[in-house]
Amino acid sequence: MNGVKIRAAAHYVPSAVLGNDQISTWVDTTDEWIVKRTGVSQRRISEGENTSDLSIEVGKQLLGSAGLAAEDVDLIMVATITPDYLTPSVACLVQEGLGAVNAFAFDISAACSGFVFGLSTAQKYLASGQYKNILIIGADVLSKITDWDDRGSCILFGDGAGGVLLVADPDALYSEKLHSRGGTVINGGHMEVVNPFSKRERKFDFLKLDGREVFDFAVKSVTENITELLEKVGMTLDDIDHIIPHQANGRIIEAIAKKLKTGLEKFYVNIQKYGNTSAASIPIALSEMFTNGTLKQGTGKKVILVGFGGGLTWGSVLMSV
Ligand code: UT7
Repeated sequence: MNGVKIRAAAHYVPSAVLGNDQISTWVDTTDEWIVKRTGVSQRRISEGENTSDLSIEVGKQLLGSAGLAAEDVDLIMVATITPDYLTPSVACLVQEGLGAVNAFAFDISAACSGFVFGLSTAQKYLASGQYKNILIIGADVLSKITDWDDRGSCILFGDGAGGVLLVADPDALYSEKLHSRGGTVINGGHMEVVNPFSKRERKFDFLKLDGREVFDFAVKSVTENITELLEKVGMTLDDIDHIIPHQANGRIIEAIAKKLKTGLEKFYVNIQKYGNTSAASIPIALSEMFTNGTLKQGTGKKVILVGFGGGLTWGSVLMSV
């Protein structure tokens, strides 16, 4: 069946906590508004650690808990939109940090869908039979690109990293439905890298978003995406144990549950603690679920991981754990 198995899951977040009350000291907002409209109570903020630092911590934990030598890692992928550098990739920095000398490494740029796209990519490499141990890490330090004076967006985001060690498992379930719709400027702007020889002004863009439009896109696309994936495999939501959505806004998750006519308890939600951590949110959730006993390797529980974000990009993966 070309299935895959999560051999280990891990996450790492910076230690500094930024609460809603602190944000309300510099923009016109309140804890009450943020909690009611987003579900976020606090987020972790890096005070110097870069995307590679968070990712290396995750990589070390993955190797440690699986008892795997760094030399046995075949491929490292990091999904991120906030790399340390344009080059080298964060994945190459992780390779160096772990001493994974036999691996090859590259980054994936698919915003908040990056981890799901990474899982999909890893599944193909594993199915080829040429590679055995793949690290997929989702990591973002969104605080680097957040406009901290924009109350409509700065309340949402946080920093963090999570990841999995993925191996092949012919008996495990795997299916997916991935999408992109290039050219849709839904976030109100592109983050641009400008050639100095061009006549254009060289400036740094912060992440901008049209919150309401993203909200509507997310609810519609995720609902349709989960439905089409279930149809593809001939299952219904009753067959699924957990849905692990990208944590963008608690109200988005509630609206998706309502549209799918299922209870919120099927959805894992931890946005109150971390905010929207982009590519990191799904693997952080996965890692927490293994730590708190919601998931256990070898039980065969069926989970759907669903991401959506800039690009536009969106997609879901169904797998058994
Ligand atoms: O990769 C990016 C992912 N992006 C997202 O996930 C964003 C998804 N969208 C959202 O999460 C929500 O749309 C937001 C949380 C961004 C905004 O919530 P909303 O319920 O859609 O509010 P709104 O934009 O419709 O604004 C309602 C009101 C406005 O005031 P008026 O015009 O009605 O007087 C805003 O100015 O709320 C105001 N407002 C705020 N008030 C207090 C906007 N931000 C804040 C704030 N505190 N932080």
